[in-house]
Amino acid sequence: MAFTLRAAKGKNFIDRKELVDEMVKTLSDERQLIGYVLYGQRRIGKSSILKEVKRRLDAKENTVVVYYSQWKKVEGTISEFAQRLSQEIIMEYGPKLGLRYKVSGLARSSITHVKEVLADLNLTVKTRAEIEFMLTFDPRKKTEIDPLTLVENAFNLGENMACETNTRCVLMLDEFPEIMKLKLNGREVGENILKLIRTIHEDQENIILNITGSVKSTLETAALSPTSPFYRQFIVKEVIPLENRYIKKIILDNLKDSKIADDAIDMICKFSAGIPFYAQFIGRELRGKKRIDAKDVNNAVNELLTQEGELIFRREYENLSSKERLIIVDMAINDTSAPSEIGSNIDEDRSTVGTYMDYLEKKAVVRKDGRGKYSLEDPIFKMWIERNFGEWDWMPQI
Ligand SMILES: Nc1ncnc2c1ncn2[C@@H]1O[C@H](COP(=O)(O)OP(=O)(O)OP(=O)(O)O)[C@@H](O)[C@H]1O
Ligand SMILES: [Mg+2]
Repeated sequence: MAFTLRAAKGKNFIDRKELVDEMVKTLSDERQLIGYVLYGQRRIGKSSILKEVKRRLDAKENTVVVYYSQWKKVEGTISEFAQRLSQEIIMEYGPKLGLRYKVSGLARSSITHVKEVLADLNLTVKTRAEIEFMLTFDPRKKTEIDPLTLVENAFNLGENMACETNTRCVLMLDEFPEIMKLKLNGREVGENILKLIRTIHEDQENIILNITGSVKSTLETAALSPTSPFYRQFIVKEVIPLENRYIKKIILDNLKDSKIADDAIDMICKFSAGIPFYAQFIGRELRGKKRIDAKDVNNAVNELLTQEGELIFRREYENLSSKERLIIVDMAINDTSAPSEIGSNIDEDRSTVGTYMDYLEKKAVVRKDGRGKYSLEDPIFKMWIERNFGEWDWMPQI
């Protein structure tokens, strides 16, 4: 086992047994066509759950799992999405079709070569032609087919391959709401893409769609609210923080050769607040030390706030408006939670602060704990703010 900042699976994957077992069972059950929505805050472990479920389903004959992450986009156009999704589908179906080439290499080679390779595969003429087209068109150039039809083609490819190989295609679209940001003729496509996918998917019998999202409000637009295109189309699961004993397990399993003081472990649990990413990061910083005490944990936390903080939190912070920043800085530094209190600190009336709280909640920066009571969603982001905007000699208060 090793600390990892990438999605965890196999022996690196801790806890979540009930959820993963349930998903594996439902998704491989031939009588079921329903998939899952996983939602939860950033870095809580959504992608890891999908990857672990995929790993377990890959062992089953009747299912082919296609995992697609919207984070990896390059151009961010609809055509690129359709092509990359098709490539992932072809790649996963490759072994079932007898494909001996890497799909990424194939996509870059000549049409003649692609034709030759596909000729050897056990496919209907129609599917072969579709694959050939989806692999070889140039997403940067205008094609005769409009981009939305390309998306339809990609989904149909999955459906046809599943049908022709007598399998179920479990499609996992990680960070699903991000696809609303895809560009169509230079503009964001928005909810239309969801409606389109819903319409295509409605008639499909072999694709089981699963999605994730980090920002509750955008996922609401996509799937959770009664007016959303995918309302009641999924089994909805919230991914919650890990219990302390599992955070402890991530640390202890990976630092077998170190002697770790009890208060150091407690500090890691408290600091990471059940978010596995932070446990992995701190653990990685502590590697190679024979003895680990509270001071070492403090140093690791400082390192995290410096290294990662500048990468992730700075961007999150800069994406906020100046009023929103004022509010969260006050919340972090003065430990305030009520709009009236915050308002009097930053010289704004209560209802204005309330309005901004709504925005901040939609952006998953704050969470509403009760009437007139809010807190910052991520305790580490809070620390980063304290460190950057609070007293100059700040040390983490764990
Ligand atoms: N069950 C787990 N056991 C051990 N480590 C985990 C687990 N789940 C997640 N992690 C670790 O936490 C970090 C974040 O995981 P992951 O990328 O799956 O989260 P996410 O919710 O998809 O994050 P993002 O919001 O960035 O997409 C990674 O370092 C991963 O290795
Ligand atoms: Mg993820």
